Amino acid sequence: MISVKDQAFFLETKNTSYIFKINDEGHLINLHYGRKIRVENLKPLEMKLNAGAGSTVLYGSTNYSMDLLPLEYSFNGKGDYRIMPLEIIMEDGSYVADFIYDSYMITDEMIPIKTLPQSLGIGAKSLVITLKDKLFNVNIQLIYTVYEDEDVITRRVVLLNKGEKAITLHRIMSMNLDLLGEDYKVLSLHGGWIKETHKNIRDLTPGIVTIESTTGASSNRHNPGVILLQQDTTEDLGDCYGFNLIYSGNHQTRVELSSHGQIRIQSGINPHAFHWTLENGESFEAPEAVLSFSYEGLNGLSHHMHKFVNQQIIPLYWQNRERPVLYNNWEATMFDFNQRKILSLAKKAKYLGTELFVLDDGWFGRRVNDLGGLGDYDVNLKRIPDGLKTLGEKINAMGMDFGLWFEPEMISINSALYESHPEYVMQVPGRDPAKGRQQLVLDLCQVEVQDYIISNMTKVLKSAPISYVKWDMNRHMSDVYSKAVRDQGRVFHTYIMGLYRVFNEITKAFPKILFESCSSGGNRFDLGMLCYTPQIWASDNTDPIERLKIQEGLSYFYPMSSIGAHVSESPHQQTLRNTPLETRFHVATFGLLGYEMDLHNLNQKEEVEIKNQIKWYKSHRKVMQFGQFYRFKHSAAGGVQFQVVNQDKTLGVFGNFQVLANASPGFDVIRLKGIDDQGLYQVKTVKATMDIGRFGSLLKHVSKVRLKPQGFVIQNARKYYRLAHNEEYYRAYGDLFKAGFRINQQFMGTGYQKETRILGDFGSQLMTINKEEGEE
Ligand code: DGJ
Repeated sequence: MISVKDQAFFLETKNTSYIFKINDEGHLINLHYGRKIRVENLKPLEMKLNAGAGSTVLYGSTNYSMDLLPLEYSFNGKGDYRIMPLEIIMEDGSYVADFIYDSYMITDEMIPIKTLPQSLGIGAKSLVITLKDKLFNVNIQLIYTVYEDEDVITRRVVLLNKGEKAITLHRIMSMNLDLLGEDYKVLSLHGGWIKETHKNIRDLTPGIVTIESTTGASSNRHNPGVILLQQDTTEDLGDCYGFNLIYSGNHQTRVELSSHGQIRIQSGINPHAFHWTLENGESFEAPEAVLSFSYEGLNGLSHHMHKFVNQQIIPLYWQNRERPVLYNNWEATMFDFNQRKILSLAKKAKYLGTELFVLDDGWFGRRVNDLGGLGDYDVNLKRIPDGLKTLGEKINAMGMDFGLWFEPEMISINSALYESHPEYVMQVPGRDPAKGRQQLVLDLCQVEVQDYIISNMTKVLKSAPISYVKWDMNRHMSDVYSKAVRDQGRVFHTYIMGLYRVFNEITKAFPKILFESCSSGGNRFDLGMLCYTPQIWASDNTDPIERLKIQEGLSYFYPMSSIGAHVSESPHQQTLRNTPLETRFHVATFGLLGYEMDLHNLNQKEEVEIKNQIKWYKSHRKVMQFGQFYRFKHSAAGGVQFQVVNQDKTLGVFGNFQVLANASPGFDVIRLKGIDDQGLYQVKTVKATMDIGRFGSLLKHVSKVRLKPQGFVIQNARKYYRLAHNEEYYRAYGDLFKAGFRINQQFMGTGYQKETRILGDFGSQLMTINKEEGEE
């Protein structure tokens, strides 16, 4: 809801209020963002500037210092010395601007962003405030969209030059928020290839924290999602603010704790290598920023963010639509495959229960390794002699959908495209471009290049029964230059706008194809991508223990319906870690399940285990993909727990991940979350079996026959026998399960019964949570 009273704007969601007012100078002053409040009069919320402060300059009246006011937006040159959301060279060549309130408008219609993706605006209302510079004919629109049900407010900025002469933008942040209080911490997600979105929490101390990317994409280094939380906020209690950006290019979020203990946070396009000249009549649209507040801790905040993504970001067709369990051939074959191999993997994948076969890199042109082929998407008939259409049909005939890998934004020097169109490459005239994974970047600032990608992909997508596309992008940008732009400070942003145009055209033409974006894993996991591709491959790292960190990090901002998670082989290809098949599945199940391994390496019993896993996932898929997700405090021993619950709290799944075993551990207690206190529930372990090879010479304790751990008998027996995990069952009211219940003791070398939980290093178990019908 949006209302206006006494020169103040009230933006209200179900649980939050955002209030600001126009003051006598025409500036917009933030009065409150946080918990929902009733306002009888504004006085308690007003900034009291009755003593002033030294070392400040005054805008007008006594004590009126821009440096001290909680401003909705700010500009250079009038005494605000905190981080600036806006930096423009005005008509007179100065950096000084002075924007004051002009008018407002409230609308039910979503105001379209012409150049970028935006949230869907379903059931939302928007407020547009226009500010005008006092000297020149330059306007700023501050656009707020209120998502009542999701407890989210989005903000963005449009700058319009109506003046005679050009102005130049050096920085235009999508939002600026000046908050009360100083006792905050900053949570952000950092990493790199195969270690994306690891959580980092730091105290906010005087100075400036910057979280940004300069790689051309939102990057695997620093994700655009950032949280401000109070010192004592936990996963379930306390105040926190979440921020994200609907943008896939270079982003920047800065948080300042100023000399007077005020917090300013802003996010938007990274000003790195950015400048944008606006001639008379031209405007610039900054991407949409997403803001949310919760007093129910970080889980509460994530629930807002997840709901927002599922209902206001993901394309309508894919909302709430269950995603297929896929098999991808990449980790099994890499570039070494032919049609026969693919069909035999597909046959096995179908037998195990997967629903979609994805043919990854290497099916086209000269692409037999990473030295060539990118840009030419004609099927390689030496590898796939029957062609894509027949291959797709054969896979369909097996009862599976067919999906295909592309890397549309890239070009190899060894490609027909490069030979015919070297000018499509992003490079600086006269300099040799740097290569990443042997490849160069296509210059998507050129409309001709965008058109080429659209028509080339469209041709392939029409040529075969393709129901899924993995859209990869495997390098950072370098040699950033385009002949297609007016000045080079535009290239990074124009590239992203070009990419969005391509996505827009292709996904509009093929709305029922499921697009999964990928960038060497999670190098472009952001809300911009999710506007076109409902799911994203989270990481090339499929080691479940590493995935716990990655998926947990992502879960702060992104729902499980967006996170691609696969079961792969062990030892793991990057960490060499040996992990149980059950744990690989249990981690992947908290996401969009897939399998990515050489299925011919599985023994009979592993095949049965996987068949059961997939069967179980299919019957719990709705809750695993769209349920409400909860994180838990890690145990003192480093254990991780996840939980999901469906909307009506009748079905949930709890995952317990040991990570490392401890000698003689204590007694585990589980405290479930998000279920009804009054409801009667049954909690049951999900059946799983373990590899007896894990026990090595310990088997001598249970077998009368002396067996050598690496000997033929045990190695052979592993193929025909797996040991069942213990099973537990509890029936109780929700309040008891939330207060805590004790589960069986763990194996610790003091004896074994079938009730003993055997986890060891990297062990895990799942439990289902079922509410009995008719109970309240
Ligand atoms: C990087 C992706 O993250 C992998 O899953 C795979 O598709 C390779 N690219 C193929 O080149």
